[in-house]
Amino acid sequence: MSTIEEKFLEAFGEEPDIVAAAPGRVNLIGEHIDYSEGFVLPFAIKDRTLVAVRKRDDSTVRIASVQRRNKIAVVDIKDVKPGLKGEWERYALGVLWSMGVTSGLDLIIDGNVPLGAGLSSSAALECSVATAINHLFDLGFSLEELARLTQKAENQYVGVPCGIMDQSVSLMATQGFALLLDFRDLSTRNIPFDVASHNLELLIIDTQAHHALTDGGYAERRASCESVAVKLGVKSMRELTLNQLDSEREQLSDTEYLRARHAVSEMTRVLDCVEALALGDFVRVGQLLNQSHASLRDDYTVSCPELNTAVDASIAAGALGSRMVGGGFGGSAIALIEVSKTAQTIHAIEKAFTEKDFKAPRFFTSLPSQGAEILARR
Ligand code: GLA
Repeated sequence: MSTIEEKFLEAFGEEPDIVAAAPGRVNLIGEHIDYSEGFVLPFAIKDRTLVAVRKRDDSTVRIASVQRRNKIAVVDIKDVKPGLKGEWERYALGVLWSMGVTSGLDLIIDGNVPLGAGLSSSAALECSVATAINHLFDLGFSLEELARLTQKAENQYVGVPCGIMDQSVSLMATQGFALLLDFRDLSTRNIPFDVASHNLELLIIDTQAHHALTDGGYAERRASCESVAVKLGVKSMRELTLNQLDSEREQLSDTEYLRARHAVSEMTRVLDCVEALALGDFVRVGQLLNQSHASLRDDYTVSCPELNTAVDASIAAGALGSRMVGGGFGGSAIALIEVSKTAQTIHAIEKAFTEKDFKAPRFFTSLPSQGAEILARR
């Protein structure tokens, strides 16, 4: 296999100035609370996106992708503004826009984060480009600033109303650790997540389900949390307790109450999980994963039959815990399992999917990996 430098040379006839990489992620716990000033506990997976970039003397931007057979998108940097039509390259162009790039560039993207699996291939792409550009032009943005700029690219340029979790972990993760992120101030703490020495593994199950409803469903959940905050006179779900929520329930619609109950209870579960990890209590971690899934399924209603089937089959096969991850309505679930039970768990999930006539799922596993980095610079 040739290196990304060779692929760049092949596509553009010159060598790149810089090569950067950024990973996808799974979220151990803390779902749908990044936009409610909550805490989350994701880690970077080993799969990542690479980008090689070279400065040009004019204002042309050319973007090629190895996965799309080097099809090259060509635009003038002056035209790169929200509203410009395009395909996948919008994720990269959005970052150039949010970072204020004004000169021409050649870029090639080469990624192996599974697409559409809810493992944040889009954040990996955005963060690899942002890391390369930050160093290439010596812009000096901090990782927090890069997280905000890449989120801005996805929100305002691509038009997806995501929170900031995926970009933050892709940029800030450290190998061997899950990253406790506090979205009040984007502060972080590395939490050792050493499943291997406990003979455990985190199985990632890509259900291959993608329900069309995603975008509207996500925005609707965000809007519910915002309206609860307004009605109860708080800045975000972070300021609420379950007691307060119960005592002020009559001010909320039933749906708003359930959405807020998920957010408030999930924040507590994240902190409980951090405590359980410190004690090496993986049985407790598993219980918290199960509770998180039930809350996402019943209160936040962002799960789907394929995710529920993966979770139920994992637990029936002996997993310590299992839950959907990411935005929901499809994508991936995780299961915390004993290594010796990997084959039987996979088999049980496959069987359950066949019985329900679902598309065959895909399986991955990953230890906590390194966040974005520069791989080469000339
Ligand atoms: C998507 C979004 C994140 C986060 C998760 C749900 O992955 O991009 O910001 O809201 O959903 O936890």
